[in-house]
Amino acid sequence: NRHAHAANAQEQHASGVSRGQSVSVTELTGPRSEIPDRRFTLTAQKTQLSLPSGKSVEAWTYNGQYPGPELRMREGELIEVVLENKDIPEGVTIHWHGLNVPNAEDGVAGATQDAVLPGEKHVYRFVAKQTGTYWYHSHQQSSVQVKKGLFGPLVIESANEAKSPKQPSLDLTLVHHKLNGGGGFTLSGKQGVTKEQAAPGTPVRLRLINADSSPAYFQLLGSPYQVAAIDGNDVHDPNLIANQTLLIAAGGRYDITFTMPQRPVFLSQSRSDGGRGLLLSPDGTGEAPPPHPDLPVFDPAGYGSPVPLPFDRAARFDRDFRFVFDVQLGFYDGRLDGLWAINGKVFPDTPMLMVQEGDLVKMTFVNRSYMDHPMHLHGHHMLVLSRNGTATTGSPWWTDTLNVAPGETYEVAFRADNPGLWMDHCHNLTHARVGMTMHLVYE
Ligand code: C2O
Ligand code: CU
Repeated sequence: NRHAHAANAQEQHASGVSRGQSVSVTELTGPRSEIPDRRFTLTAQKTQLSLPSGKSVEAWTYNGQYPGPELRMREGELIEVVLENKDIPEGVTIHWHGLNVPNAEDGVAGATQDAVLPGEKHVYRFVAKQTGTYWYHSHQQSSVQVKKGLFGPLVIESANEAKSPKQPSLDLTLVHHKLNGGGGFTLSGKQGVTKEQAAPGTPVRLRLINADSSPAYFQLLGSPYQVAAIDGNDVHDPNLIANQTLLIAAGGRYDITFTMPQRPVFLSQSRSDGGRGLLLSPDGTGEAPPPHPDLPVFDPAGYGSPVPLPFDRAARFDRDFRFVFDVQLGFYDGRLDGLWAINGKVFPDTPMLMVQEGDLVKMTFVNRSYMDHPMHLHGHHMLVLSRNGTATTGSPWWTDTLNVAPGETYEVAFRADNPGLWMDHCHNLTHARVGMTMHLVYE
């Protein structure tokens, strides 16, 4: 039984970490005694959702909402989130996807905490140190629970914005997801086109979150725009672009910005069953323009303008890992199936990344399979150094979820500055379940 096996392996790693000498206990949890600046309560619960088709499906949600409520906070605040489980039988957690929180707050069942069972509670605490667009989701049987709706958006506003309020702007969060049994993709829980009013001249920020397990493709038609942030990290000096397709990795986020023109602007989703999107127009009505035939895919590797990097390809790396992704036949839950392998192994036999605090760590990802693998590292952000042998140029490209497409090779690096036990896995959560999961361990 692979489940039991996996859980044991995780527990062993966890206890290994708590005994480690170089790890100080205070860094492993969020501030526990101070009064929080902001409090949220999220209750995991079974929820009947009625779909536009008239059909009703059982979703699993936080606070009865699909997606869960947007958690908005400000940089520097101490956040407390109380998680309650009303009636999700297998238990739930909350993982703060993209937030580099202390290890004990990371929300990984079987590794950093136990799953919160029905009738139980768990309190998360962390300081919102980053800014930008993130999301949260259950990390207990996540391939099932995220599909069923246990996720929501999280936005951290920068402290500077608060001090110098600009022109009133339109700031909208849009989450791409396909609900288990929901029969089609949704944008923030809605099928079809959402229409909003936006006066010409209004600065607009759209926060695009891909909460599904395969890449999301967006097109913005009707205005040039900037890709202002990737995975919560601001792009330095982003150029104006138009007529491109944005590919957002499963688990990834893009913020795009533009100034509302006189005519309507349409954000559409291509390459998945269509007819969904956001229409902005001066009076909140209008028709969506027809979809644009194949637009080139936006390339983050050469976008924006450069700033000095904390480290680059020529750095001396303390650790150098190479991971080759492949598919192989094997047994899962007693059935012969295609398993997703890293260096020929499936979890829990996959490589373990052993590091020491302070290490500069390089990872090379090589995708020899026929599917995308959005690689997500918990607790750290990766700097993309190269793709297919070519060094990235432009603004530093920091990511927590990197889509590695079939045939691609990436070099990335990160500073090991957040002690603990962390997951590094494919965010196609089905792949993570059948093989593509690794652990990063501070020794
Ligand atoms: Cu968004 Cu380990 O997950
Ligand atoms: Cu994968």
